[in-house]
Amino acid sequence: MSVSKGVLLIGGPSKGTRMRPLTLDCPKPLLPIAGKPMIWHPLSAFAKVPGLTEVIMIGFYEDSVMSGFIKEAKREFPNIAITYLREYKALGTAGGLYHFRDSILRAPVPQNIFICNIDICSAFPFTEILELHSKHRGVGTIMGVNVRKESAQKYGCIVTEPESQLMMHYVEKPDSWISNTVNGGVYLFDKSLFDEIKIAMDEKTARAAEDPLVKPDEILRLEQDVIVPLAAAKKMYVYQCKDFWRQIKTAASAVTANSLYLTRIQKSNPDFLAKSSPNVISPVYIDSTATIDPTAKIGPNVAIGPGVTVGAGVRVKDAIVLEGTNLEQHSCVLTSIVGANCNVGAWARVDGKPEPEQDVKGQISVTILATEVSLAPETLVRSCIVLPNKSLNRNSANEVLL
Ligand code: GDD
Repeated sequence: MSVSKGVLLIGGPSKGTRMRPLTLDCPKPLLPIAGKPMIWHPLSAFAKVPGLTEVIMIGFYEDSVMSGFIKEAKREFPNIAITYLREYKALGTAGGLYHFRDSILRAPVPQNIFICNIDICSAFPFTEILELHSKHRGVGTIMGVNVRKESAQKYGCIVTEPESQLMMHYVEKPDSWISNTVNGGVYLFDKSLFDEIKIAMDEKTARAAEDPLVKPDEILRLEQDVIVPLAAAKKMYVYQCKDFWRQIKTAASAVTANSLYLTRIQKSNPDFLAKSSPNVISPVYIDSTATIDPTAKIGPNVAIGPGVTVGAGVRVKDAIVLEGTNLEQHSCVLTSIVGANCNVGAWARVDGKPEPEQDVKGQISVTILATEVSLAPETLVRSCIVLPNKSLNRNSANEVLL
């Protein structure tokens, strides 16, 4: 069996700004979705790939930000090595791969390297991608997903030859429509990827010597600098994703990802979730340290974090409730994220609209309460973003509350 390694591109503190205010206190890769940090979902899928020996996270967060998660992950997945390699600055989606090439290629030398974005929600069909990859002679296989025509240009767009799955053309976020099949942010490459990255880096260095507008730094983009030339050389293939896929860029998209993951876990690992009952409508995740009044009605699509208290007659649906929050009696939380250590007063209502298919500027859908927000009893907060440490005692709708 050939050796594989997995790389997770986790970005750094300057990324994830569209996730604010949630990322003010919690780095984006560690945001809890369906009861687990965002990054746990691809990591656990990697742990199931036969022959995968190591998962390497590359990013520019301080080591201390990731150390707690890594310690716990090593305990949970003892059969794979888990490491974090920190870039000295944002090096782009291929710069870190280049900078840390020796660490990635050290023994056991991998034949295949998976690369995965972390801000996506997917079934991560790594084993199926590996199967397709081992059948062709290309340098890489990319996971293609189909999106609506109106949103395709937000992504890397792919033109594929249907019979052979060969990538004919790749354009990153094109100005005009070329295809509904887009880059899903999951790749598998042969180790010769590093030769291709070296060529791209040498070309950039040569350009920098001639053009003062090109900086002679280590920043390199996997999509434009590596995949575009690989597609032109007919060295890339496309695995067509048949399962769910979404980007997790905004706080609202975390609510969608939460439902998708919970629905999947309901089939794959139902014991992780709360048992269905007249007052628990599956799928629901409730941390073992949360206290839930038996008269509260919860679900579907709800994740309740550690130490949360849910009072009598509370209703929660399509929501994430983070650590230490208190939902007082008869309060109601719908299509919202309630940050850590908030207090939602009795009979208060926090609600939102589901994430729209297309972002409309200036319109808030899902309500987000940041950390330590306090709502007075009987207040209504609808489609609002509320910043940390705010106390609200009046009704609000479609507002950012600073
Ligand atoms: N280590 C590291 N260093 N990671 C980075 C850096 C960096 O400098 N910059 C971005 N990342 C990580 C992000 O954390 C994320 O996981 C991934 O790389 C891609 O992030 P973006 O650069 O913000 O790209 P994007 O999400 O707008 O688009 C990419 O993903 C789409 C799918 O979600 C592209 O690959 C698109 O083609 C693709 O469709």
